[in-house]
Amino acid sequence: MQVEHQLRCTGCGRVIAQEALKEDFRCPECSHLYEVEYPAWSASSAADTSASKRNLPNPSALRWLWKERRTSLELKDQSGIWRFRDLLPILKDEANIVTLREGNTPLYELPRAARSIGVERVYAKHQGMNPTGSFKDAGMTTALSVAHERGFSWVACASTGNTSAAMAAYAARAGMRSLVLIPEGKIAWGKLSQSLDYGALTCQLRTDFDGCVRVLAEVVRRAPVFLLNSVNPYRVEGQKTPAFEIAESLDWQLPDHLIVPGGNLANCSALGKGFLEMKLLGLTDRVPRISVIQAEGANPLYRSMQENGGKELTPVEADTRASAIRIGNPASWRKAVRILEATGGWVEQVNEAEIALAKAEIGAEGIGCEPASAVTLAGLKKLVAQGHVQPSESVVLLLTGHTLKDSDYTIRYHRGDLLTEEEIAPLRPEIESTRRNTVELDADVDQVLRALEKAVQP
Ligand code: F0G
Repeated sequence: MQVEHQLRCTGCGRVIAQEALKEDFRCPECSHLYEVEYPAWSASSAADTSASKRNLPNPSALRWLWKERRTSLELKDQSGIWRFRDLLPILKDEANIVTLREGNTPLYELPRAARSIGVERVYAKHQGMNPTGSFKDAGMTTALSVAHERGFSWVACASTGNTSAAMAAYAARAGMRSLVLIPEGKIAWGKLSQSLDYGALTCQLRTDFDGCVRVLAEVVRRAPVFLLNSVNPYRVEGQKTPAFEIAESLDWQLPDHLIVPGGNLANCSALGKGFLEMKLLGLTDRVPRISVIQAEGANPLYRSMQENGGKELTPVEADTRASAIRIGNPASWRKAVRILEATGGWVEQVNEAEIALAKAEIGAEGIGCEPASAVTLAGLKKLVAQGHVQPSESVVLLLTGHTLKDSDYTIRYHRGDLLTEEEIAPLRPEIESTRRNTVELDADVDQVLRALEKAVQP
């Protein structure tokens, strides 16, 4: 049976049919964002709320089916997003799926981090292990498939790097064109190179990310392009599926906490939606607490929670070396506040030295991630110190991007010229013990042996 979807405004609650969605994905009444909703599943839509009367999918059958699909040769089964398509029925025809076999990303244990922080279990859900190197692929496959089904030839996004690479790749797969707006000089070279290679029309604007978003909002009103930033509710649908994967990887025993980086705040909203839907459908009986960590220099949500409990958000001029989350006016902040409230999570901020150290520590576990992802480990240390995370609890950190993204940043950290003396001071011993600079030598065996001897000394 085809499950229909509709869209509910997260501000005023008004419900619209999918055809009525405006090109900027904002509610014409209150300008807030929409969320995809499946009326067949919602308890309030049926007089008899028992699962069988609501025609809900059977949880055990779903778990079995999703596992079975991992051995299938069909593309839509091999995708770690569309494998869960029963919980994202957004297409009229599955032939419109555009996939690069994204998802199915690893959940790694971080035993050294767990030991040094004093928490029972710490895991990293590594979304950087997606085809274009970031979590964006999970939402891009769904939203771009919708664009494809609706007959668009062009898609567009503003980006700090990862979204543009993901969008350009999926558009290229579908034979569509893509328009990328990026802040000039402020995105990682690797990301820019991906966007060019995948054939996007790439415009570097003399502004920041928030400025690119403002320009694009006007462009989509004037040109027939499908907007693929995370304001697009179909992006969120794909991005909720790592919640299903996390549950599946832990044999349906949920972690106590999920910690995500906070930029535009789509991950918090999407994963929260995923966990809440799993509970609603009886796949799990609770949800983890979802907490958001922001960089101190790009902390509008943190400030909003401190100043007014998340009722209003004042944009900030964003500044952090973690380029992916250099965002001062996050689009999905209201959705994120609702998830924080629904799951009982917290918002914290971390400084530049804390981020850099955490990134090196994640690297030292043989995993690695981009700077923006490392805020999660830095934030976990604070949540433990504040007593929000207990030693007996389990924690999943969402690593959003691949370690090869900001290689400059990593090399400068190890060389010792990333952070200022003032930034390093409070964490000097920890930072110095994680730094591994290259050793410059002649092509001489004795010199290499001496370097080796020095390294093995305690
Ligand atoms: N981590 C990485 C690696 C990102 O690329 C981004 C956002 C975020 C975290 C923030 O995610 O919106 O869920 O809070 N990058 C966007 C881009 C803006 O254009 O690639 P969020």
